[in-house]
Amino acid sequence: MCGIYCYVGKKKAIPILLDGLASLEYRGYDSAGIAYVTDKININKEKGHLSNLKNLIDAQTDTYIGIGHTRWATHGKPSKKNAHPFKQGKITLVHNGIIENYQELKKILTEYNLKSETDSEILTCLIDKLYSECHDIIKVLAKLNKIIKGSYAIGLIVKDDKNNIYGIKKNSPLILAQSDIGNFLASDIPAILKYTNKYILLDDNDIVKMNKDEITIYDSKLNILDKKINTFDGDVSKISKGKYEHFMVKEIFEQPDVLYKTYLENQNLPDLKKYNKIHIVGCGSAYHAGLIGKYYIEKYCNIEVNVEIASEYRYKNNFIDKNTLVIFISQSGETADTLACVKKVKDKCDTLGIINVIDSSIAREVKNVIYTKAGCEIAVATTKAYSCQILLLMMMVLKKDITNLISKINHLLKNNYEQISQKIYNKEHLFYIGRDIDYYLALEGSLKLKEISYIHSEAYPAGELKHGTISLIEKNTVVIAIATDKDLVDKTISNIKEVKARGAYVIYITTNSLNQESDFYDEKIVIEEDLYQPLLTIIPIQLIAYHVAKLRKCDIDKPKNLAKSVTVE
Ligand code: F6R
Repeated sequence: MCGIYCYVGKKKAIPILLDGLASLEYRGYDSAGIAYVTDKININKEKGHLSNLKNLIDAQTDTYIGIGHTRWATHGKPSKKNAHPFKQGKITLVHNGIIENYQELKKILTEYNLKSETDSEILTCLIDKLYSECHDIIKVLAKLNKIIKGSYAIGLIVKDDKNNIYGIKKNSPLILAQSDIGNFLASDIPAILKYTNKYILLDDNDIVKMNKDEITIYDSKLNILDKKINTFDGDVSKISKGKYEHFMVKEIFEQPDVLYKTYLENQNLPDLKKYNKIHIVGCGSAYHAGLIGKYYIEKYCNIEVNVEIASEYRYKNNFIDKNTLVIFISQSGETADTLACVKKVKDKCDTLGIINVIDSSIAREVKNVIYTKAGCEIAVATTKAYSCQILLLMMMVLKKDITNLISKINHLLKNNYEQISQKIYNKEHLFYIGRDIDYYLALEGSLKLKEISYIHSEAYPAGELKHGTISLIEKNTVVIAIATDKDLVDKTISNIKEVKARGAYVIYITTNSLNQESDFYDEKIVIEEDLYQPLLTIIPIQLIAYHVAKLRKCDIDKPKNLAKSVTVE
C-alpha cells in the first residue's frame, strides 16, 4: 500500500528520500514521486518502478528537505498524473489512506484545476483552501478530522514555510523518527532503521511540525505533547536476500529459526479456558491461521471458536459479551479492516493480538498482545509470519516442546519440490482439497499459489466437490489433495478417487503413518507425523507455490496488484 517518507536535516535529501522509498517498496506500489525544496518546491513523479523516478532526478541537488511517496492505486489508475506528491496553491502533499467523502468535497472546491483522478488531490485542495482562510497550517490540520470521512496519513510542505514538514495521521500508519542527521516521517519503522533506531509513535490526530533542528507535536486542541522516544532493538541486518534469489524463499527457510524464537520468547501465554466463546479475526493468510487455531482450540479446550474475515466482521452483529475473547491476527499490525474490528469491539470484551510488527497500530489497540518473532517479512506472500501465528495459537493449547518439530522442518526443507512444480506450472486452473484441518491448509495453499503464480486455484472441502464443482474436473486437471488427519483420511481418499475417475492429475500430501501405496494419485509427498502437523504440512505447500511462480517467471516477492500492508479498507 502507499508509503510515505519525509526527511528534513543536514544531509542532501534526495538520496535519503529515494533510499527511504526503496525500503517501502515491499509494501507494494505502482508509481512513486518526491517533492523537494530548492529556491522553489520541485516535484518529480513517475509511473512504475522506483528506478524510473531515479532516472529523472539529480541526486546531488542542493536540497535538505523533501517528501516522498510510493502509490498503490485506489482512486484512479496507476499513472504519472495520479502519482503523489500533489501541489495545489501553497500546499504540496503526500497521502496514504482513503478520503471517503471526496466527491462531496470536490463540489465545494470548484475553483481548483484538478490534474488527477485521485481523492488525495482533493485533499490537497481542501487543505490549501482552509490555509488560505486562516494562514495557520497547524489549525488547518487540526480541523481535518471534522471535515474528512476516511483515513489519512499526510506529509506536507507549505510554500510560505519551506523549512518545515508537517504531518498528521488518522487510521493510517505514520511514525516519526529522530536522528543525528535530521528528522523523518515514514509509514513504518523498518524504513527509518538505516538512519536511526529512535522513533515516536503518533496517535490519531497528532500533528507534527518538524525541521532540521526540532520536532513539535500537537494534539487536536493544539496543546504541545511530550511523547516518548522509543528505541527499536530488533535486528536490522536481516533485511537483505542474503544467498537467496527471493525474499519469499529466504523467509520459508527462516521458519525453523523464527518458530523456535517465537516458542522460546512466549512461554507465558493467556489462559483461554476462562472464556465461554472465542472469535478469531484476520484477513487472508491471517484468517487461514485463525482457522487452524480454531481446530486446535476446539479440539483441546472444548471452547466454541468462530473465525471471521475482518472486512465482514466489522459490519455485522458480533454476538460478543464480557466472557468472549476476540483474537486479532496480523503480520503487519496495520491491516485497516482488522484494526477497525479491534476498535469496534475493544470496549465490549477482552481482545488479544497476535502480531508481528512491534508497536504497530493493532498491537497498540488491543488489550493484550503476543508477538510472533518472525522478524521483518518482506515478500508480499506471507510464509514465516503465518507459521508463527499458527504456532502461537497451538501453543496456547498444546504444552509440548518443539525441538523435534524443528528438526523435522529442517529435514523437509531439504526437498525443493521442483519436480512436482514442473507438473503444475503450465496449468491455468488447479484445485486444493482436504477435510477439516487439511481443508484449512488447502485454503492457504491455494491462496499462496494463486497470488504469486497467477494460476487460478480454488480450495474445496474434499466432500463438497461433488455438489457442483466436480463438473470442472477433466483430464489432467491438477488436484492437490491433503490428507494428514487419521480420522478423515479414508473419506478424503474416497473423494480423491472421485476426481481421479474423471481424469484429474492428483498430487497427494499425507503423513508417514497414513501413507498408502495405491493408484489414486500421480505424485505423493510424505511428511513425518507430528502434534504440530500443520507446521510441517505447510512447507511443501509453500515451496510448491514458490517454484511454480519461479518457473512461470513471476515477480515472486511483489506480485501484481498486491500490497504487503493493506492500510485501506
Ligand atoms: C497472503 C497474505 C495476505 C495477508 C493479509 C493480512 O500471502 O500475505 O493474505 O495475510 O493481507 O495481512 P496482515 O497479516 O498484515 O494483517
